[in-house]
Amino acid sequence: MDKIIIEGGIPLNGEVTVGGSKNAALPILSACLLTGGWHTLDNIPKLRDIWTIKEILSNLGVVFDEDGQSLKVNSDNLASHSAPYKLVKTMRASILVLGPLLSRLGKAKISLPGGCAIGARPIDLHLKGLSAMGVDINLEHGYVVASADKLRGANIFFDICTVTGTENLMMAAVKAEGKTTLHNAAEEPEVVDLANMLKAMGARIKGAGTDTITIIGVKELHPIRYGIIPDRIEAGTFLIAAGITKGKVRIKGCNGDHMEAIIEKLLDIGMELEKQGEDLVAIGHDKIKGVDIKTMPFPGFPTDMQAQFMALMCIANGWSMIRETVFENRFMHISELRRMGADIEINGGQALVRGKRNLSGAQVMATDLRASASLILAGLAAKGRTEISRVYHLDRGYQGLDLKLSLLGSKIWREKY
Ligand code: EPZ
Repeated sequence: MDKIIIEGGIPLNGEVTVGGSKNAALPILSACLLTGGWHTLDNIPKLRDIWTIKEILSNLGVVFDEDGQSLKVNSDNLASHSAPYKLVKTMRASILVLGPLLSRLGKAKISLPGGCAIGARPIDLHLKGLSAMGVDINLEHGYVVASADKLRGANIFFDICTVTGTENLMMAAVKAEGKTTLHNAAEEPEVVDLANMLKAMGARIKGAGTDTITIIGVKELHPIRYGIIPDRIEAGTFLIAAGITKGKVRIKGCNGDHMEAIIEKLLDIGMELEKQGEDLVAIGHDKIKGVDIKTMPFPGFPTDMQAQFMALMCIANGWSMIRETVFENRFMHISELRRMGADIEINGGQALVRGKRNLSGAQVMATDLRASASLILAGLAAKGRTEISRVYHLDRGYQGLDLKLSLLGSKIWREKY
């Protein structure tokens, strides 16, 4: 296994290019199941989670061809409708093949994803929506066994805003009979990106990016060439890296419109941020102040940036109340940050961070994807050496974060252990 080692205290300087969005790539790769022929996808990041979804798709009969920076995908010959536990258990987003398989084959057998470090991660809303569309669903031996002679359009109300739930139902609806309306739909940019790809394939979708999405079923879809959006969470992580090291970083190829809540909060704490075309220039200052955040569905402050923001607040002047409203257990990074000297008090779904002058390097352990990024950010600022173990969590969602940080001047490297 790999560990990452950081000698902290070096202000970052230089420029970095953001990769394609993991959380757009996962549903968009799944959507290639909806029709045969060769799709060409650009800007697909090279991440463990992308490898996992490709394994699941290959297991179904999908074939891939790497063509330079593009990924070609063909699902002409689907030989299976099953996604096995051994693959699904490593990535909850595997459930995204459910909707497309039902649309294409009328049947699917997907292992129940199970929970993960940050929460139970149920899929009840996915299944409730599919049932409303005429899908017969049984839970057998840890698998969702689903079938439908025909998918019918339906009026679907999500009790809770669910990103992959919205995406799954949108994919199930594009070739269903009649009209489907998704109420209280997720508005994330990754949902919009999927909708844009589906529309390019011939789907009839209105309202993506709002809380009400309508889909009119069509008879046929066709394969396309499509470039996915940049990863707003990777970009936000680099903004915080600039802030926590009091450096100056140009983040290239990001979309500031997807990051308004993040930018707002970083301006509030006293960072300098400037949009220059598709770039964001971030300058960290010595005096950053504690600011409260509450994670919310888009366009609110993203839960996927909570752990990273908390690391920054550990060295702010003053206090910060951080409320996590999306997941029930997304504070696993706190006990590790405390090992680095952070002063954080947990009270249910909120954490009070009392900013300190410095953190100190320590041996810490990554527990989940965004917690890994939080510990790296804390290590960049800490005095002395930080060693982060179990960095396989990090590699699920960041392509070479440590390499990119070293190119920005930080002393960071990997070792086997
Ligand atoms: C997506 O997860 C993202 N993953 C997550 O990113 C992100 O944190 C999350 O949305 C929230 O923005 C992908 O897009 C692949 P949800 P998802 O369904 O869709 C509850 C990362 O770090 N819920 O929007 O699984 C659920 O328990 C990952 O990149 C139900 O109760 O999240 C949670 O409390 C982590 N029943 C809330 O809704 C359901 O059927 C939001 O979850 C579905 C969800």
